[in-house]
Amino acid sequence: MTPEQAWQMILRQCHQPDTASDRWPSEAPLSDDDHARQLLQLFQPLVSPGAPAGNRRVSVVAQMGQSLDGRIATVTGKSRYINGQDGLVHLHRLRAVSDAVLVGSGTANADNPRLTVRLAPGPNPVRVVVDRNRRVPDSHYLFTDDAAPTLRLVARDNQSPPPPAGIRSGVQEIPCLSGGEGPIDPKEVLSILEGLGLHRIFVEGGGQTVSTFLTAGLVDRLHVLVAPMIIGSGQPAFSLPEIDSLTDALRPQARMVNLGSDMLFDLAFDAHH
Ligand SMILES: NC(=O)c1ccc[n+]([C@@H]2O[C@H](COP(=O)([O-])OP(=O)(O)OC[C@H]3O[C@@H](n4cnc5c(N)ncnc54)[C@H](OP(=O)(O)O)[C@@H]3O)[C@@H](O)[C@H]2O)c1
Repeated sequence: MTPEQAWQMILRQCHQPDTASDRWPSEAPLSDDDHARQLLQLFQPLVSPGAPAGNRRVSVVAQMGQSLDGRIATVTGKSRYINGQDGLVHLHRLRAVSDAVLVGSGTANADNPRLTVRLAPGPNPVRVVVDRNRRVPDSHYLFTDDAAPTLRLVARDNQSPPPPAGIRSGVQEIPCLSGGEGPIDPKEVLSILEGLGLHRIFVEGGGQTVSTFLTAGLVDRLHVLVAPMIIGSGQPAFSLPEIDSLTDALRPQARMVNLGSDMLFDLAFDAHH
């Protein structure tokens, strides 16, 4: 099997599960092609996940693209590009197997990302930006390029209508987040997305947003893409509540995969549930 065939099989399993008749590597003899096997092993848990944790019917994959010293951007917010080409292709593949790709307002603001699938074959997910205070300029690609349906989650007030029943093309502003300065409960975000029929959620960044999902115990899988680069200063990848003892550190089940330009840490938090 070639990597291209493996990738098409993953897309079929993800987007046409009822008609796909492919067999996964656990059932089929492993392919001789290392790259194809690597793809199948990496994506199988994402496209056919076990029951997500607790009562949730959504599964959450998050990613962090970081330097060896755990930075995701310079002090001035520049993050293009920490990861090499293989890491970027992987990122686009993660988008392609997701119903929705979600970023915080910091990322949308700083990077003006498109969040579309361009470096691999596959469909664009629904784009979601957590933008409580409407900080992201209306002129950014997410709101102007019409490349995929886009949800802008903002603060609600007493006058806010109930969340919409479905996704439509273009940009939908949804006033659904609790206002004020306090942290947003990521559970609130997931329940809105689930209500819209989005079940496979990819939290792409940035550091704060991934960290709040992780702190809330809502990340099933985390892909940390480590680039062989030392920045030495800049924005941290993870910011979690302080701990005293290392026994309280997160120690997910881990697999390391050499992507070429980057080392991928495939971390399974769902393995503990
Ligand atoms: N290397 C990578 O993989 C990667 C990926 C993405 C981004 N980046 C870089 O990361 C930087 C941005 O990261 P960041 O951590 O500053 O910002 P971020 O996580 O993108 O966005 C943080 C903002 O999102 C809102 N938000 C999201 N979840 C929230 C929650 N649970 N509670 C409260 N607010 C929440 C808040 O917006 P309000 O303040 O508007 O309420 C918060 O200030 C950029 O420089 C970008 O280039 C790197």
